[in-house]
Amino acid sequence: MTTLQTRRYHITTFGCQMNKADSERMAGILEDMGFEWSEDPNSADLILYNTCTIRDNAEQKVYSYLGRQAKRKHSQPDLTLVVAGCVAQQEGEVLLRRVPELDLVMGPQHANRLKDLLEEVFDGGQVVATEPVHIMEDITKPRRDSAVTAWVNVIYGCNERCTYCVVPNVRGVEQSRTPEAIRTEMEEIGRQGYPEVTLLGQNIDAYGRDLPGVTPEGRHKHTFTDLLYHVHDVERIERIRFATSHPRYFTERLIKACAELPKVCEHFHIPFQSGDNEVLKQMRRGYTHEKYRRIIDKIREYMPDASISADAIVGFPGETEEQFENTLKLVADVGFDQLNTAAYSPRPGTPAAFWENQLSDEVKSDRLQRLNHLVAQKAAERSGRYMGRIEEVLVEDQNPKDKTQVMGRTRGNRLTFFAGDIKELKGKLIKVKITEVRAFSLTGEQI
Ligand code: SAH
Ligand code: SF4
Ligand code: F3S
Repeated sequence: MTTLQTRRYHITTFGCQMNKADSERMAGILEDMGFEWSEDPNSADLILYNTCTIRDNAEQKVYSYLGRQAKRKHSQPDLTLVVAGCVAQQEGEVLLRRVPELDLVMGPQHANRLKDLLEEVFDGGQVVATEPVHIMEDITKPRRDSAVTAWVNVIYGCNERCTYCVVPNVRGVEQSRTPEAIRTEMEEIGRQGYPEVTLLGQNIDAYGRDLPGVTPEGRHKHTFTDLLYHVHDVERIERIRFATSHPRYFTERLIKACAELPKVCEHFHIPFQSGDNEVLKQMRRGYTHEKYRRIIDKIREYMPDASISADAIVGFPGETEEQFENTLKLVADVGFDQLNTAAYSPRPGTPAAFWENQLSDEVKSDRLQRLNHLVAQKAAERSGRYMGRIEEVLVEDQNPKDKTQVMGRTRGNRLTFFAGDIKELKGKLIKVKITEVRAFSLTGEQI
């Protein structure tokens, strides 16, 4: 019966920006195949969960969602159930045994192959696609969720082996896209009228290491810094952001490029994970807290007002109270605009998960609370500097809590609200005078 009607799809995305970008490309493929978006998963004929396994709670969330839809499949056998992303890659076949109602289990490297994989499913197969592959250039157009800011992958995968992290297991080895492919995608984004682009990589400073060519000085020819110079003048794109930076590979050349290129926003996301050198060593991060501090000082030398955000983990195996206090100290000294914090979660197939010096949940959650408290205090101090200033805000949406207001971000990535009509302002860069500051957001008025 449903075959005569338009088939409808629903995607729920968990996890990081890479997953969001992958979901947008998979949505584009599905629309190309004639599927139409359904906001409500319960009225969709195809449901795709794009999953995350960075911490145990992220993984468990997927199973509870899946359970509900698997039940529905018993009364609606033509429902197609897909699990994509990092849990799919980690679990593979095991996932099929655990949830036999599934039609397709596909790792992140296979996102661009969704059409072929679904054709196998519609032929009657149950498909698992988790073998490592060379990621194909994407030929379909992503269905982008935002009309204002577009994601562009520049490098897939990660070659680091931080001892706590599943990403290298699930995302595979680094694969850089060519500067030409990236520029072409950005030109298309500019033509479609997106004012902002965010360039993505798990370790964006690794960009180009796998591309051919060296300079006469013996550097890789295509570094991330070179890429910024290569793409910064794409027409109609007014802001360029990027994430994530790794302290081990972060260079002064990159800081200089950001200071020099007017479209590149003054915001750096550089996770430090811990403020203690021994913990950093156990994590195999490849830098010391002194080196991290030098990077921040260097950024502020070139751009005194730059925003800095980061990620940190508390309760890594063996972390002592004193070592944790070194993280607090780093946070107090640097003054982050924003910090994503997490309690360490042992992950399958990662070295630290097998160590015997795991800390209790009580210790971890106590440290997390103390850190979060300090983060909010420091973020409020950082917000304070905006008071009375005039900031350029790129309007993204209506304020969901106050329809008379719109919201957008400053160049430093602070969420900002002000009175205005979204129909008129969406996608526009507006000068806003800041009249109210909170730890993680601002309020102002259009001038
Ligand atoms: N590539 C980025 C981070 C990717 S994962 C980097 O190198 O920093 C995003 C964040 O999740 C990490 O920065 C880390 O803070 C957190 N994270 C990763 N594995 C974790 C684990 N096992 N337990 C708790 N947090 C973790
Ligand atoms: Fe994970 Fe480390 Fe790679 Fe970041 S750099 S994705 S933390 S292994
Ligand atoms: Fe999660 Fe995979 Fe991203 S594990 S954080 S969705 S790379």
